[in-house]
Amino acid sequence: MNKKHFNTVSLIRKKREGKSLSKEEIEYLITAYTEDEIPDYQMSAFLMAAYLNGMYDDEAVALTHSMLHSGIVVDLSHIPGVKVDKHSTGGVGDKLSLILAPIVAACGVPVPMISGRGLGHSGGTLDKLESIPGFKVDITIERYKEIIEKHNLVLAGQTEEIAPADKRLYALRDVTNTIESIPLIASSIMSKKLAEGIDALVLDVKFGSGAFMKEQEEARKLAETLVGIGEKFGKETIAYLTNMDQPLGYAVGNWLEVKESIDCLNGCGPGDVMEITHLLAGTMIHLGKEAGSVEEGIRKSKEAVKNGSAMRKWIDIVEEQGGDTGVITDPETFKYADIIEPVAAAGSGIVGEMDTYILGMASLELGAGRKTKEEDVDPAAGFMLHKKIGDSVQKGETIATIHTNKIESVKKAKKDILGAISITNRSSEIPKLITKRVDKHGIHEYRA
Ligand code: URA
Repeated sequence: MNKKHFNTVSLIRKKREGKSLSKEEIEYLITAYTEDEIPDYQMSAFLMAAYLNGMYDDEAVALTHSMLHSGIVVDLSHIPGVKVDKHSTGGVGDKLSLILAPIVAACGVPVPMISGRGLGHSGGTLDKLESIPGFKVDITIERYKEIIEKHNLVLAGQTEEIAPADKRLYALRDVTNTIESIPLIASSIMSKKLAEGIDALVLDVKFGSGAFMKEQEEARKLAETLVGIGEKFGKETIAYLTNMDQPLGYAVGNWLEVKESIDCLNGCGPGDVMEITHLLAGTMIHLGKEAGSVEEGIRKSKEAVKNGSAMRKWIDIVEEQGGDTGVITDPETFKYADIIEPVAAAGSGIVGEMDTYILGMASLELGAGRKTKEEDVDPAAGFMLHKKIGDSVQKGETIATIHTNKIESVKKAKKDILGAISITNRSSEIPKLITKRVDKHGIHEYRA
């Protein structure tokens, strides 16, 4: 590319006027920014123009392409089978990756999974994995390939070589308040996923009080953009819209969620967690050509839990990546937090709405997340919910149990948890968990 043909100021103006940039113009912006030839202040202006005016579908595809090729694209073509990953847009208590990855791998579909850390109120798979003593997520691409070849599964963090342009842009978006833009989010997610070496992708796009997209309509638009980009790159991509108006399952916090996922793999997980897990796993197994339909995939997913093969796969991968398998086979040997305290309900009635964002922030306050990038997370911190929407509760009954090593966080976390869970005297509507499926044919109502 001859960069002399482009003028950064003109491109900013073009986007400011809501016009469409060509593939070459976007490639110039991303390449020159990554090579330090465009300063942060100009890129910030471009991002704000894109945030305010939106981007056309072709621009989002071009942006994804440029960010994807700013680093290496892992080649897993030597590994037999259709490689399938799953991505969630993030929520509270979302431990699904920890359960479905071993299930799908045990069913014969290779799962190359590169995950992220917690972001704001929402947890991240890497932090959950690292709560298993010794578990290593920072691995080289060579080791990544070696592990997936051996186990049909690898669980890793993003390396410097994967979509470096996204890493820089994401940090800039974070401090210029330009995160919540559908084309910017979609290209950011897809550039990283496409770099992993996948052939197909399943997306869990969340909406509700604990999701980044509060409204289902916004989540639908994001899902359509993500699926559109995936398909443009020749990867079959299916998204489901799922509700995040209450935490998934009962556990919130890194180790507590790993412990709940062990229960799930042992066949005694909460109903909501298992319902989405089997749907996403079943879809991955279908896309991976190990089932003729999603329904058959779901049956195989359930069977892998029942016959113990998913649990065996989980133990194998924990061992391979340096984790202590002792805490998986006997979770009580984990070093739990020093402070474990009940939160008592202030009134009697039925659990109504939950402000799941506040619940996520309470978990962060207890030590399970980061307020600054540099902070360490406490693997043992978080809380267990004991009630979900629609459950009845008596005054004084334990509605949640907090786990923390930060004595100073206890009072505020209890207050926030109580404030986030409304107790009413009316029966409350339990939110529909999975509402829609989005694929290359369009959007479909989801019926179990
Ligand atoms: N997750 C990402 O990877 N990128 C975004 O822009 C938002 C969430």
